Amino acid sequence: MPVARGDRARRVLGGGQVTRAAVVAGLGAWTPPTVVTNDDLAARLDTDDAWIRTRTGIRQRHVVGPGQATSDLAVEAGRRALASAGVERAGLLVVATSTPDQPLPATAPQVADRLGLGTVPAFDVAAVCTGFVYALATATGLIAAQVADSALVIGADSFSTILDPADRATRVLFGDGAGAVLLRAGAPDEPGALHGLHLGSDGSQHHLIERAGGGSRARTAVTAARREGQGEGHGDGTARDGYLAMQGRAVFAQAVQRTAESVRATADRMRWPLETIDRLVLHQANARITAGVGRRLGTPADRLLSNIDRVGNTAAASIPLVLADAAAAGDLRPGHRVVLAGFGGGLTWGSVGLVWPRLRGGPVPAAGPSDSPAH
Ligand code: COA
Repeated sequence: MPVARGDRARRVLGGGQVTRAAVVAGLGAWTPPTVVTNDDLAARLDTDDAWIRTRTGIRQRHVVGPGQATSDLAVEAGRRALASAGVERAGLLVVATSTPDQPLPATAPQVADRLGLGTVPAFDVAAVCTGFVYALATATGLIAAQVADSALVIGADSFSTILDPADRATRVLFGDGAGAVLLRAGAPDEPGALHGLHLGSDGSQHHLIERAGGGSRARTAVTAARREGQGEGHGDGTARDGYLAMQGRAVFAQAVQRTAESVRATADRMRWPLETIDRLVLHQANARITAGVGRRLGTPADRLLSNIDRVGNTAAASIPLVLADAAAAGDLRPGHRVVLAGFGGGLTWGSVGLVWPRLRGGPVPAAGPSDSPAH
C-alpha cells in the first residue's frame, strides 16, 4: 500500500520505519593551529588556570589567526570528511554556523565551491551550538526526499571573533574549529543510519545567549546611517551588541535539563534502554554540564566522550570534533550504540542516534592542523 506523504515524513523524522535513510559514511575535523592556554588568558584577565579547569574542564582552546575565517575551517574539515568516506563529491552541503564569514550571503556556497562540489545546493543552518544536530536533521530529510543522494554536513564556528575581550566568563569558554560528516543514502538497518531525531526550541529564553548587533533590530552603524540618509551614524545598537552575551548560570541549568530530556526522547524513539547506549556524544559546553547530564541519565563517565580540555566550547563544531578525536583515539568503535546531543542559543536542543559504522575511506585523523604531531 502506498505510504501517505505525511506518514512518511513522520516516519523519517520520528525515527520509526524508514525506507531511505541517511547513513554516516565519513568523518573529519580541524582546529586552527593557534592555541590559547588558560595561563595566556590569566595574563590578560582576572582569572586563573585553576578556576577555569575546575569550573569548566578546559585547559586550552584553538583560535583563528589573522585573516582566517569560518569558511577556512569548514573547508579543511569538509575535505577530511570526504577523504574518510573515500569520495570526492557530495550532492548537498549544509554548514551549521552562527559565525558566518559575513551576514550575507551564506557561507556554505563558498565552501562548496572551494571543495570542488560544483553547483550543488548549499546553505547555512543557524541553531548556535545545536546547529550540527539541526543540520544533520535537515540533510536527513533532504536525502529521504531524494533531493540528494549524499550530503556533506559541516559544523564550523569562530566564536573567538565575537567575544568581548574584557568578558572573562565567555573568553575562557569558547574556541574555534570545524567538524564534518559525509552522509549517503542507504538502508535504515545499516550501521551509520541516523534515527530517532528529536529537536526542540524555547524562544522565550533567547536572551540567555545572544549577539544582539548586526541584524534588523540593533542595526549596524553603516546600515542605520544609510537608511536615515545621514552618511555617518551609530545605528540603533552599541559596540557591545557585536559581542556574545551570556547568562552563564541560567544557561547551565537549562543545558543540563534540556540535553538530558532530548537524549531520553531519542533513546525512546530508538527503543534503546539508556544503559545500552555505549557512547553519549554531548555538546562540549562545560565538563560540569556533560557530567550533570551523565548523572541524570545514569551514564557512566567512561561512556561520555570528551575533548573539552583541549578545544573548549566550539559551538556548532563541537559534536563532530569530539567524534573525530574519539574515533582517532579508538574510543569510538564500529558497533557502538551512539547518541549525539546538542544544546545552545535560541534556546535550541536536539539529539539523534546511530550505530557507529566502519568508515571505508580510511582512518579518521584527530582534529588538528595536518602538520602538528601533537594532535
Ligand atoms: N575566572 C574567575 N572567576 C570567574 C570567571 C573566570 N573566568 N568567570 C566567572 N567568574 C566568577 C563570577 O564573576 C562569580 O563571581 P562572584 O561570586 O564574585 O559574583 C563566580 O565566578 C561564580 O560565578 P558563576 O557564574 O556562578 O560561576 P559558574 O560556576 O556558573 O561558572 C560559567 C560560570 C560561565 C563557566 C558557567 O556558568 C557555565 O559554564 N555556564 C554555561 C555556559 C555555556 O555552556 N554556554 C554555552 C552554551 S551552548
